[in-house]
Amino acid sequence: MAIIILKWILIVFLMLAFLHLVIFRIIRHLVKFPAPAFATRLIDNPFRRRFVQNPETIADRMQLKPGMVVVEIGPGKGSYTKAIAARLVPGGKVYAVDIQETVIANLQHRIEREGIPNIVAQIDDAYNFSFADSGIDRVFANACLPEIPDPVRVLRECKRILKPGGLVCLCELFPDPDYPMRRTEISWGREAGLNLQQQFGNWFTYQLHFVKSAG
Ligand SMILES: C[S@@+](CC[C@H](N)C(=O)[O-])C[C@H]1O[C@@H](n2cnc3c(N)ncnc32)[C@H](O)[C@@H]1O
Repeated sequence: MAIIILKWILIVFLMLAFLHLVIFRIIRHLVKFPAPAFATRLIDNPFRRRFVQNPETIADRMQLKPGMVVVEIGPGKGSYTKAIAARLVPGGKVYAVDIQETVIANLQHRIEREGIPNIVAQIDDAYNFSFADSGIDRVFANACLPEIPDPVRVLRECKRILKPGGLVCLCELFPDPDYPMRRTEISWGREAGLNLQQQFGNWFTYQLHFVKSAG
């Protein structure tokens, strides 16, 4: 009897989760708006960091070296920013940029609390970065690009600030209501004039690296 009840609880839970996801996807499809700061704190949870998107694994794949300069779009709580920043020492830094003041203020508190010397949190718009042409080694965005209404325009802007041979590293995960299919994100990269260099992961969570060619 207990097993039957548990089975039904699980079925109802899964149905509600599915419905919730469908409703959110429809809303996000109709109206695009930046994920509120509290939501960015919620999605960066221990379960995700341990089992779905481990910050160390993601940073290891990015071929980072000391001295490199990285731009992260939409850093959220900064868990991925921190893993990247640790691999750039000595001499390198991460510019963590967002259009929302609260996200940047929260991250700035964390940087000060934990004494991280090489993360610069600043307001900036991915449509129009304040960075000069061809000076950045990596641009990183996790669960961020698909919520921006014109992702191809953002990728063109990433290409502008990247050094030749530099990478745009994009990560996505399925429960994100803006989650795009892998082939959709690959086509955005190609449309922006970037070449797919490497891909990792599975249907539920993936990481794509696009390179800016030297020519
Ligand atoms: C879902 S959150 C990112 C979550 C975080 N990367 C993580 O994995 O935990 C997306 C962020 O992108 C930011 N964003 C949206 N449009 C942007 C733009 N045009 N330029 C910079 N940041 C933007 C939003 O303000 C929001 O904080």
